[in-house]
Amino acid sequence: MNILVTGCKGQLGTELQKIADTGHRWLFTDADTLDICNKAAVEACFEANGIEICINCAAYTAVDKAEDEPEMAMLINAFAPKVLADTCKRHHALLIHVSTDYVFGGDAHEPYKVDDPINPQSVYGSTKADGERLIRESGCSYMIVRTAWLYSSTGHNFVKTMLMLGDTKEEINVVADQKGCPTWAHDLAVALMALVDKNGKNEVHETFHFTNEGQITWHDFATAIMELGGKQCKVNPITTDQYPTKAKRPAYSVLDLSKIKEFTGIEIPEWRASLIKCIEELSQTISAH
Ligand SMILES: NC(=O)c1ccc[n+]([C@@H]2O[C@H](COP(=O)([O-])OP(=O)(O)OC[C@H]3O[C@@H](n4cnc5c(N)ncnc54)[C@H](OP(=O)(O)O)[C@@H]3O)[C@@H](O)[C@H]2O)c1
Repeated sequence: MNILVTGCKGQLGTELQKIADTGHRWLFTDADTLDICNKAAVEACFEANGIEICINCAAYTAVDKAEDEPEMAMLINAFAPKVLADTCKRHHALLIHVSTDYVFGGDAHEPYKVDDPINPQSVYGSTKADGERLIRESGCSYMIVRTAWLYSSTGHNFVKTMLMLGDTKEEINVVADQKGCPTWAHDLAVALMALVDKNGKNEVHETFHFTNEGQITWHDFATAIMELGGKQCKVNPITTDQYPTKAKRPAYSVLDLSKIKEFTGIEIPEWRASLIKCIEELSQTISAH
């Protein structure tokens, strides 16, 4: 298969590059080589490379900044996925698109299933929801994969921020009333590869959820990061009201993973096991420099 990956320098794109196998012909692009908002450039890329699958890892992911830049967030999270979807439709290609738990309202008490009603609470969440809708309306073959709390050894993320704070602070405050599940970008990349391998001749119109297994708060996550990273920093639990942010976060955004497990047969690692691996990877990177 000829596979186009967009946003390849981000957390997820980088992990996909690490595990891309030789059974396919991969084309890795980012904003500097393929701006996914540019219809003509996307069309030319598909045409020149005979693209059969497009994995969209590109997004506007600055959740709080999006409240001040709704047009930019809309362009990258909704208009650009429509460009990719329309191009996939013309070329009979499959679009694998990554979305977010922030499409949900956050007032549930049990894991969100893929067909549960959405109710985004932020500009970021509503632009990602619009992106999903435009893909579904395009009539292309698609797999939309919602994920949450993504982290890896590259880019900016909660794990790296906590480790850095662990080196410089004696104590920090972290919200203990928002529950979800972290996702190691490597594990998500493996799941996307499983979806690629499941791609057959038939059209697909499916939505999936993928995170690591488990349910924790940001406070639980921060505490585990400090412990596993060997930091002495104390993590104090606080409420969301004590840590106001521009964009509202869902109080509960655990995703039900049963559909992707049944569809692909993959076993999903528990969040702590993957956190251990990512922190090991980070410490190897630091000692190599
Ligand atoms: N991060 C999370 O916690 C989280 C949670 C839930 C869902 N997700 C979703 O997971 C996916 C992957 O997230 P991530 O954390 O890997 O994202 P990321 O690290 O922010 O990477 C996104 C990449 O997309 C590129 N990009 C932005 N605009 C582009 C454009 N117009 N054309 C081509 N590339 C463009 C960015 O380039 P620049 O850096 O140059 O802008 C960046 O390399 C996204 O769909 C995101 O919404 C993420």
